[in-house]
Amino acid sequence: MPSVSLSTAKPASAAADVLVLGIRSDDDHDGLGDLLDLMGFTGEKNQVVTFPSNGLVKADRVVAVALPETPTAEDLRRAAGRAIRSVKNVKSVAIALHPAGVDEVAAIAEGVHLAAYAFTAFKSAPSTKDKKPVELSKVTVLSAFARQKAATQAVEAAAVVAEAVNIARDWVNTPPGDLRPPAFADAIGTHAGSDVKVTVWDEKRLAKEKCGGLLGVGQGSEAPPRLVRLTYSPARAVAHVALVGKGITFDSGGLSIKPGASMQTMKCDMAGAAAIAAATVAIARLGLPIAVTGFACLAENMPSGSAARPGDVLTMRNGTTVEVHNTDAEGRLVLADGLCLAGEAEPDHVIDVATLTGAAVVALGNYTSGVLGNDDAFIGQVLEASQTAGESMWHLPITEEMQGLVRSSSIADIRQHNPKPAGGTLFAAAFLREFVPEGLPWAHLDIAGPAFNEGSASDYTPVGGTGAGVRTLVKVAEALAAK
Ligand code: BES
Ligand code: ZN
Ligand code: ZN
Repeated sequence: MPSVSLSTAKPASAAADVLVLGIRSDDDHDGLGDLLDLMGFTGEKNQVVTFPSNGLVKADRVVAVALPETPTAEDLRRAAGRAIRSVKNVKSVAIALHPAGVDEVAAIAEGVHLAAYAFTAFKSAPSTKDKKPVELSKVTVLSAFARQKAATQAVEAAAVVAEAVNIARDWVNTPPGDLRPPAFADAIGTHAGSDVKVTVWDEKRLAKEKCGGLLGVGQGSEAPPRLVRLTYSPARAVAHVALVGKGITFDSGGLSIKPGASMQTMKCDMAGAAAIAAATVAIARLGLPIAVTGFACLAENMPSGSAARPGDVLTMRNGTTVEVHNTDAEGRLVLADGLCLAGEAEPDHVIDVATLTGAAVVALGNYTSGVLGNDDAFIGQVLEASQTAGESMWHLPITEEMQGLVRSSSIADIRQHNPKPAGGTLFAAAFLREFVPEGLPWAHLDIAGPAFNEGSASDYTPVGGTGAGVRTLVKVAEALAAK
C-alpha cells in the first residue's frame, strides 16, 4: 500500500507527479479554468479528465474529477478511488478534494488505498527487457485539517481498515487449489500475528466437538475442514461481539453439482470467513475496546465417493438433526456449527457473513447485501454502520412461512433446503436462526452479490474479490465502542 500523509499545502504548490483536483461547479478551479474547458470538462457525474498542467501548477499532470455540490464521505471515497485508478506509472500524487471534516479526510485515504490494490501474486515478474512499471508510493491528501491530530489518526485508521479489506480480497482472489481449508487456516494465523489469538480445530477435533455440519460438507474433499477461532479480548471491553464467517474455499455444489458456468466464481465462497477474520484483526489493530470472538468455518464442497448425499441426515454441534436435500446448500450447514459455537461464547451480539444464496443476488443485485436477523434494533445498528462505511445493505424479513418450511422435515428435526425456490434468502436465514440462542441479537449478512466483482473495476472496487463486509464490521465495532 502507498504511504498516505496529510498536508495543508495549496493544490497549486503541492509537490507531486500528479495533482488530483476535485471540481465542484462553484470552485475557482485554481486558475485551470481554460484548460478544463479545452479538455471538455463539464463536471458531469463521475467525469475524470487528465491533462498536462502547462506549468500552471507545480505538478506536471492534473487529474480533474467531478464532485457533487456537497459530497458525502462515500462520494469522496469513490472520487479518490476513481482518480487513483486513472493514474498509471507515477510515484507520487497529491489529492485535493476539499474534505469538509475529519471523516471525509479518512474516506479519501481509504479510497486511495482501496483503489491502489492489485492482485499480482500469480503474475510472473516482468522480464528484464520490459520497462518495470512505476509503483505509486506516496500520496498526500491536501486538507485544512492536516495539522489536527484527529485527522492524522483518522488517516492511520483508514490504512488499517483498507489493509483488512485488501487482505480479504487477496484471500478471495487466491486460486481455490492454493487455498484449501488447512492452507486458509494457516494464512489467517499468519495474518493475525500476535495481535489476535488464533486456534484451529482440525477434523479430529471437529469430530470430538460434534461439528457435524463442517464435517458433513467437508467429507467429500481430500482437504479436510477447519474451524478457526480468533480471539481479541482487550482489558476494558465495553461489549463482546461474535463474528461467524462462511468459508467454503471452493463450492462445486458437491453431488448436487453446479453447472460449469455457476462454478466459475466459486472460489469466492469463503468471502464471509475472509471478511470476519480480516475485520477481527483490524478491530484489534485499531485497539477498539470491543471483545471479538471470530469463527471462520472452512470446508471445501466437493463431489466424491465420500461426499454427503441428498437424503443424508447430519447432526449439528447443538444436537439438531438436519435432513440434507441439496448438497449445494452447504453454507448454512457449516454456519450452523459456527453459530452454535458463537452462542456458547456468550457474546452481546452475533453477526454472520456469508455468500449464502443466489437468491440474494436475484433480489438485490451485485452491489447490495441482504441483512436478516432476530432483532430489529440491532439490524438498525448494522444498517447504520453499513451506511457510514459506504457499503450498500438492505433489510429482508425472516417470515413465519419460512420457519414453517424449515421445520417440515419428515425424518429429521429440520430440513436444509427449501422445497420451493421462492424466497431462498429468507429460508436460509430462517434455517440459521435455529442455531442462535433465544434473546441473543443476531444479524446475518448475505454478501453473495457484492463479494465478487465479475464486471469491470469501478471507483475503488477492483475486479474479483471486493472485501465486502469488512468495513461495515469495523464500523459496528466502532459504534458499539462509542456508546
Ligand atoms: N455459494 C452459493 C451461493 C452463491 C451464488 C454465492 C452466487 C455467490 C454467488 C451457495 O452455496 C449455493 O449454491 N446456494 C444455492 C442454494 C440452493 C441449492 C438452495 C443457490 O443459491 O442456488
Ligand atoms: Zn453451494
Ligand atoms: Zn456456497
